[in-house]
Amino acid sequence: MRTRPLKVALLGCGVVGSEVARIMTTHAADLAARIGAPVELAGVAVRRPDKVREGIDPALVTTDATALVKRGDIDVVVEVIGGIEPARTLITTAFAHGASVVSANKALIAQDGAALHAAADEHGRDLYYEAAVAGAIPLIRPLRESLAGDKVNRVLGIVNGTTNFILDAMDSTGAGYQEALDEATALGYAEADPTADVEAFDAAAKAAILAGIAFHTRVRLDDVYREGMTEVTAADFASAKEMGCTIKLLAICERAADGGSVTARVHPAMIPLSHPLANVREAYNAVFVESEAAGQLMFYGPGAGGSPTASAVLGDLVAVCRNRIGGATGPGESAYAALPVSPMGDVVTRYHISLDVADKPGVLAQVATVFAEHGVSIDTVRQSGKDGEASLVVVTHRASDAALGGTVEALRKLDTVRGVASIMRVEGE
Ligand code: HSE
Repeated sequence: MRTRPLKVALLGCGVVGSEVARIMTTHAADLAARIGAPVELAGVAVRRPDKVREGIDPALVTTDATALVKRGDIDVVVEVIGGIEPARTLITTAFAHGASVVSANKALIAQDGAALHAAADEHGRDLYYEAAVAGAIPLIRPLRESLAGDKVNRVLGIVNGTTNFILDAMDSTGAGYQEALDEATALGYAEADPTADVEAFDAAAKAAILAGIAFHTRVRLDDVYREGMTEVTAADFASAKEMGCTIKLLAICERAADGGSVTARVHPAMIPLSHPLANVREAYNAVFVESEAAGQLMFYGPGAGGSPTASAVLGDLVAVCRNRIGGATGPGESAYAALPVSPMGDVVTRYHISLDVADKPGVLAQVATVFAEHGVSIDTVRQSGKDGEASLVVVTHRASDAALGGTVEALRKLDTVRGVASIMRVEGE
């Protein structure tokens, strides 16, 4: 074993960073044996230097993250600050001063992954970010390495624990969105400002990263269609139950049937109770990967939290340290396929549409005609109501999102349609 230690700079010492530091200390001998050299915490950049941090030598703590990454003797920078700046500048500065980088920053990788990979390549360093998607669950490495010889056609998953907790609570208790969100906040699953989770910004960033790696194509955050889950109602869950389904916020990255393009989207969807993703409860994450040779793979586990996320960071740290000792780098960006990313209108799936209509002769025929005129084939229709008003639930066969959008627009113009109560995609069949 090499005796000179590899030096690690930790940027951020919150829930994840403190766990990374703790495991580095408590598992130092195992990590050294696995890497082939000791790893030493050489500095910890924080915002609040006066906070007591158990197990961390106060002499290592600094508020000057820039000076730390510029030191020149740092082998690996671990970035667990989050957000775009100063993380981006600190990472590029780290590469320029000879360090490899392990990051847990999904927003930054989704937005600037290509530029950061280019900076890593320019300096012959590694950029690893297993912890950026679905916490502890190994996903980036399986997609980047284990499936490198296969052809991935679809990635379908629950990649946000907060929203899964809320939807699971709505499903199991019949609660409305706000009540379930309040419970998630009280239990510490939802942040004080839950926007990034409930409006699916967090899941969209993860979808962009997964799609890019799965399809060897640059998928920008703007390429990902995003719909949050704040509009999902208890009535939607009741409808889902009648169909033998539940509702999940899904990230779906797909290769088109002709293989010539890809799509990436995040939105609430109904899935059959028989689908394994329907049974992913509480704040757990799970991702299905469908590939040509391997078939269906499912990855399941805790998608957030200090310790699970630190597990993924430490795994990357070991890999990057091994690369440094071997004088090599791991896989960089693979975007050679450069497939076009199609808009949401091109996505083909099934739909569950709930309409409030007048209950009189000819209404069903009118509604059915609108579907037919837009080339959307109806699978089932269910009607209930009284006193001249009715609720009509239409489930379609597979149709493009553009065709469905046109259908709904035309339905809204019918005098007999009082309102479109909800539109939900049906996936996983
Ligand atoms: N807020 C995320 C979640 C974890 O609820 O899954 C970090 O991406």
